Amino acid sequence: MTERFAHAAAPVTATAPGKVNLTLAVGDLAADGYHPLATTFMALDLYEEVVAVEGEGLRLEYAPGPIDVSRLETGETNLAIRAARLLAEATGHAADAHLRITKRVPIAGGMGGGSADAAAALLACDALWGTRLTAEDLRALAAKLGSDVPFALLGGAAVGAGRGDELTSALAEGEFHWVLRFSGRGLSTPAVYRALDEHRTRFAADLGPTPEPLVPEAVLHALRSGDVRLLAELLQNDLQAPVLRRRPDIAEALEFGETRGALGGVVSGSGPTLAFLVEGRDEADALAAEFAARGDRALRAVGPATGARVG
Ligand code: C5P
Repeated sequence: MTERFAHAAAPVTATAPGKVNLTLAVGDLAADGYHPLATTFMALDLYEEVVAVEGEGLRLEYAPGPIDVSRLETGETNLAIRAARLLAEATGHAADAHLRITKRVPIAGGMGGGSADAAAALLACDALWGTRLTAEDLRALAAKLGSDVPFALLGGAAVGAGRGDELTSALAEGEFHWVLRFSGRGLSTPAVYRALDEHRTRFAADLGPTPEPLVPEAVLHALRSGDVRLLAELLQNDLQAPVLRRRPDIAEALEFGETRGALGGVVSGSGPTLAFLVEGRDEADALAAEFAARGDRALRAVGPATGARVG
């Protein structure tokens, strides 16, 4: 047979988790157009899957699955394609791979699904091409792709500073059970940040200077000791108010969850997904059923989950 066939690499499967932000403190807009952040991430057991096979050029398709992928871009702007291209450029390897992605994390939901695709694509192509980058090299490429991509690689629980990409792992004891309530309509991340800026400018006299973004020590304590009730009290997101002002339907759903058994609820990232922390598996089942009964899409998830991996 041909040389090409003799050297064909086996397909590689990589997975990477979606996430929730347990806390998200946002500083004032910086000169680089971004806001400095301090956030606590938790990876959830909703995994994106990328299968990479040899092929000419870079191509991507979405497998039919639980998420409607009909409107997703599959060309050069797709973050997974950009991840593969960046790896090829960084290593000098030919940019030849076909990617097939199965999505389980909702799109434009503030749960880092696109970032997880990019993290999994980096790992899958690294294995397919045998480029064998170190974890630190992969992390550096991930940070170039987007603020949430390094955390999708790392997984677990972590504090993020800078744009959320300067990570420090946090110890977490036991399991935390979540109900995620999805919204049919997405939200634009830049628009949510802009709304926060406008609000701060308008009410500057009352609000005073924006404090330096921090992760409260109590959050790390709650994680370390597996204290779900304490953690529920501490869920916090500076982007929540601008999201709820734009979307009364989400404000209503947040109140619904909190009065139907959730220990606490929060907008995840820039929304519109809501993350509710509950006592355990049974409570998660019950709350997910409450949402389903009124026609809302909701899923259970458990964290902290492992980061991106091959196989
Ligand atoms: O990180 P990502 O590319 O998803 O950010 C999209 C946009 O959201 C940025 O261009 C910026 O307008 C806004 N953003 C921000 N501060 C951050 C993260 C995002 O202002 N820390």
